[in-house]
Amino acid sequence: MSVKKLTLKKIFTQEPVGEIVLAQGWIRSVRNSKEFSFVVINDGTTQNNLQVIVNNNLENYEDISKLLTGACVGITGKLVASQGKGQSVELHAEKAVIYGGVPEDYPLQKKGTTLEFLRDIPHLRPRTNTFGAVFRIRHQLAQATHRFFSGEGYYYLNSPLITANDGEGAGEMFNVTTLNISKPDLLPKTKEGKTDFAKDFFGAPVNLTVTGQLEGEAFAMALGGIYTFGPTFRAENSNTPRHLSEFWMVEPEVAFFDLEDTADLATRYLKHMIGEVLNNCRDDLEFLQKFYKKDLIETLEHVHQAEFKRITYTEAIDILQKAKEAGEQFQFPCDWGSDLQTEHERFLTEKHFNLPVIVTDYPKSFKAFYMKQNADGKTVRAMDILVPGVGEIIGGSQREDDYQKLISAMKEKNIPEEGLEWYLNLRRFGSAPHSGFGLGFERAVMYMTGMTNIRDVIPFPRTPNNCK
Ligand code: 4AD
Ligand code: MG
Repeated sequence: MSVKKLTLKKIFTQEPVGEIVLAQGWIRSVRNSKEFSFVVINDGTTQNNLQVIVNNNLENYEDISKLLTGACVGITGKLVASQGKGQSVELHAEKAVIYGGVPEDYPLQKKGTTLEFLRDIPHLRPRTNTFGAVFRIRHQLAQATHRFFSGEGYYYLNSPLITANDGEGAGEMFNVTTLNISKPDLLPKTKEGKTDFAKDFFGAPVNLTVTGQLEGEAFAMALGGIYTFGPTFRAENSNTPRHLSEFWMVEPEVAFFDLEDTADLATRYLKHMIGEVLNNCRDDLEFLQKFYKKDLIETLEHVHQAEFKRITYTEAIDILQKAKEAGEQFQFPCDWGSDLQTEHERFLTEKHFNLPVIVTDYPKSFKAFYMKQNADGKTVRAMDILVPGVGEIIGGSQREDDYQKLISAMKEKNIPEEGLEWYLNLRRFGSAPHSGFGLGFERAVMYMTGMTNIRDVIPFPRTPNNCK
């Protein structure tokens, strides 16, 4: 009889009862009785473990029965319907190969390990149930992203990671250089005594990108609609549970879209992702619900159907002021003109609406230079989408498509035209209304998994003072 080499996911979906199967994975537990050992393995392809029954007449039974949690094995045997509760099938071992044993100091013992502890062993934490669930859901969200935007008719664009632009104009860039900065005395100098970047690798100062938006706009004004999906880098010194120095962003940009079209697109996209996770990641959601967020599935199901709230910034300020008068305590001011702080965002989305909220038309003073100016002269066509538990998950806007207005906004914000001539030229050469947004991919993973620290939804988190 031929041996079927199957992942656990395939074993549980195909359930080839009666066939000879080779299952491989890492041991979760070994329980020895008189005649048998019950060896529970998991290969990471699914939340479900496979129970293997090893008879003591197996040639290397001694070695198998002594294996510890974390050892890696390959077991060939007959797959049979299980009598036991909690699993549909089990494997009756006929041959067991030990790929790699573990010493007793293997850090992932059965007893509950904290997420903080696991952050110190980022190379091993994917072997836990929690991280297996999170990263399988992360995968699902990535696939759902491509399916969604491709289905909408937009093209996947790879914007550059090394760029000379500061796309947000916030100065939070990581420089990229081949100059030997460890020897400042030897750096090439200009006549004025400054570092001469003309002698650097690219002949100019460049940095890691903070956004793919600007390049995305050039392609949207050519292909109609695009989306980028890649890493972005921000050297902002915010050590919060929602900020990373390297994070992934999904940035669609669509020609002929106004802000309402973009808000509709973002709503459909979020709902699409929720639907895909609900349909394809049940076991993982149930696990996360049990251990991390008691109403995870219910909330996702509710939001999948619900209408997202839409309010202007001015209306948001109104709600916050009224709440303050009614006794709500805020640490930061919430007067018209001040930026919404996390506490305000959380109040709106968690307490006031208990739903995702789309806030539009913010004051231009604290929004990026490229946003379309409203006729009131004070606000811009910006939108932020806030969700309970995470806060801002999406930031977007209609873009300023008027050449002169864009130039004056850049002047007001002290953004030099030099280096952005090409961007301005998009407004000189067949300008078109267009809009887009950026979804913080890790924040989306947080929302769908119920994880409360962004460091736990990216494989190897990069944060200030931490690049393990
Ligand atoms: O609001 P942001 O800064 O918007 C942009 O970058 C625009 N260029 C997007 C666009 O219109 N194409 O960032 C977008 C999203 C935020 O809403 C947030 O979810 C996430 O990116 N984000 C971060 N996620 C993790 N760590 C950080 N440091 C983040 N900064 C922003
Ligand atoms: Mg933002």
